[in-house]
Amino acid sequence: MLTEKDRVEKHKLLVIEDDDTLRAQMQWALAEEYEVLPADGPEAAIQALLAAQPHLVTLDLGLAPNTSDSSAGFRLLGKILQQSPLAKVIVVTGNAQRDLAMKAISQGAHDFMAKPVDVGELKIILKRASYIHSLESEQARLQRSGEGRDFEEILGMSSGIQGVFSTIRKVASTDVPVLVTGESGTGKELIARAIHNGSLRKSRPFVPINCGAIPEALLESELFGHERGAFTGAHAQRSGRIEMAQGGTLFLDEIAELPLALQVKVLRFLQDHKLERVGGRGAINMDVRVVAAANKCLKKLVAEGRFREDLYYRLAVVSIEVPPLRERDDDIVLLAKAFLKKYSNERARAKALSAQAVDTIKAYNWPGNVRELENRVRRAVTFAEGPLVRPSDLGFGPLDEASQNLDLKKAKEDLELKFVQMAIIKHNGNISKAAEELGLSRPTVHHIIKKYNMLESVRKG
Ligand SMILES: Nc1ncnc2c1ncn2[C@@H]1O[C@H](COP(=O)(O)OP(=O)(O)OP(=O)(O)O)[C@@H](O)[C@H]1O
Ligand SMILES: [Mg+2]
Repeated sequence: MLTEKDRVEKHKLLVIEDDDTLRAQMQWALAEEYEVLPADGPEAAIQALLAAQPHLVTLDLGLAPNTSDSSAGFRLLGKILQQSPLAKVIVVTGNAQRDLAMKAISQGAHDFMAKPVDVGELKIILKRASYIHSLESEQARLQRSGEGRDFEEILGMSSGIQGVFSTIRKVASTDVPVLVTGESGTGKELIARAIHNGSLRKSRPFVPINCGAIPEALLESELFGHERGAFTGAHAQRSGRIEMAQGGTLFLDEIAELPLALQVKVLRFLQDHKLERVGGRGAINMDVRVVAAANKCLKKLVAEGRFREDLYYRLAVVSIEVPPLRERDDDIVLLAKAFLKKYSNERARAKALSAQAVDTIKAYNWPGNVRELENRVRRAVTFAEGPLVRPSDLGFGPLDEASQNLDLKKAKEDLELKFVQMAIIKHNGNISKAAEELGLSRPTVHHIIKKYNMLESVRKG
């Protein structure tokens, strides 16, 4: 027996079907898992929609009186989505009407199913749809309540990322240094910016410097600036990044790469709030908040004597550990959908993730984290041939439907393309690194890119 609580927690499912027998069958088969609201046509459907606000809808596209004309079904789809934007609509079409199903999806339907209705399959589709509906309603709830509002750019409602938000909220308005650690692509820079934007320094500069990307010889003057004539080539006086951040926030990215000699100098700056340019004679008073990021465990480097302990404690007054994407279950699909929306334009056909794509991205372990997800989705938007993004569009799975017709040449080309894409995505668009991993020369990789014309879709940023 269902308890009152179970009953309340059931999703409401509106079944729009003009065939009385089929409607009754569906109601019977689904009643245990859903609160089923049957409707035999547009009028009854609209009434139920207004009265009960269903979460899920199955919509027969070929409604009476003219079952071969889908225009009434499409009009109804439009009304449903206008009335309940979060409702997940599964369209039911005739067997040979895949194009209609695709059109419905490009107009906002969530998924489709062909007649004759297979109840087992329908249950799976509905289960996925309820899952996504719950995610999106929870996200909408968080946004309404204001909890999500502070961090418009950082998406996520997993407990991991919500914990990060709560720390940001607590520390942003203070001046304490923050150390953000996490794997590559987890959003460390985004978090550093959110800390800056949540502080009183918001209108002052946010100045990033990547300690790992600047040659050691130049790093000191890049950070601290130099006086004219301080060294050969120093033709004019130049301010460093620290000085540029006056009144604002300095973001020391990849701090683990800071050479030991410079660690001492940065430590001194953090202690004294004073800065001396290279070759300079006087110190300048500084008011700068420091946020640092590392994708390695700094504590371990301290233990190995590669990072100064005193500097570590200065930087990590507050530390934020960003969880890898694979540990943020619920966020993966949400983020994928958000990126799909972000990169879809009028020309792009891709409008939604196929059920297989949803399963695939949930199962994958995302070594490149959010950046990899964003890159894969951006590329899929260009590559998808219909409104539904398939796993292969995201660069997953060596074989897809296309290779089933035993065309060896095409299969080889597909595989070649896929490998090159995966390598480029993995290396964030760095062709040299991709070529190295593939065991190909750079020109060969360029040739393949040109052949398939794919650079736009995988290039970073
Ligand atoms: N929670 C999120 N919501 C939306 N976009 C995100 C989120 N996290 C990361 N991104 C996006 O993913 C990309 C990578 O994020 P970011 O540059 O902040 O990562 P990172 O941790 O600094 O990576 P790295 O260690 O490689 O420098 C960016 O395009 C960023 O906008
Ligand atoms: Mg970064």
